[in-house]
Amino acid sequence: MHPPDGTVPEEGMALTFSDKAEAEIKALLPRYPAGEAALIPVLTLAAQEYGALTDDVIDLVSTRLGIPPTRVLATATFYTMLPKKPVGKHHVQVCTNIACSLLGAEHVVEKLERKLGIRRGETTADGLFTLSEVECLGSCGSAPVMMVNETFHENLDEDAIDRVLEECRRG
Ligand code: FES
Repeated sequence: MHPPDGTVPEEGMALTFSDKAEAEIKALLPRYPAGEAALIPVLTLAAQEYGALTDDVIDLVSTRLGIPPTRVLATATFYTMLPKKPVGKHHVQVCTNIACSLLGAEHVVEKLERKLGIRRGETTADGLFTLSEVECLGSCGSAPVMMVNETFHENLDEDAIDRVLEECRRG
C-alpha cells in the first residue's frame, strides 16, 4: 500500500514505493556498484515519500535493496538529515556546529523557538513547522546556516529569519 507523498503510514501497513519513486530508484541503481551504495539516496526518497523513516519504511528499503534492516537502520540513524519521526510541512534545520555557533547559531535557534512557540525537536500544533538542531550542513563559509526542507538559508540575521518564516507561511 502507498499513501500520498509525505503522509505517515499506519503502523504495520505493508508498504510499497509509488510508481514515481520506483522509477527514480530504477534510474539510480545502475549508477552504483551495489544496492548498498545507493542506500542514502533511496532513504532520502523514502523519507520524502513517507515523511519519516519509521520501522515499516526501513523494512521497505531493506527489502527493495536486499540489505539487512539493521544496516539500513544504522545508516538512517547516523544521518541527522534523515527524519526518523514525522516532521511538519516545513522542516527547519539549524546548524549549531562550530562555525555557525561562533556566528550566533544559538540566537538563531532561540529566535525560531520564540517565533514558532516550540522548542527544538518539536512540531507546531498546526503541523506547519518542525524545528531541529543539526550538525554541519557543509556551508560553514556562509554561517550561520539553516535549511528549510531542501533550501539553504545562509548568513542568517533577524530579518532573514522573519522573511523565511513568512514565505513558509504564505507557501
Ligand atoms: S558549521 Fe554550520 S554549516 Fe558548517
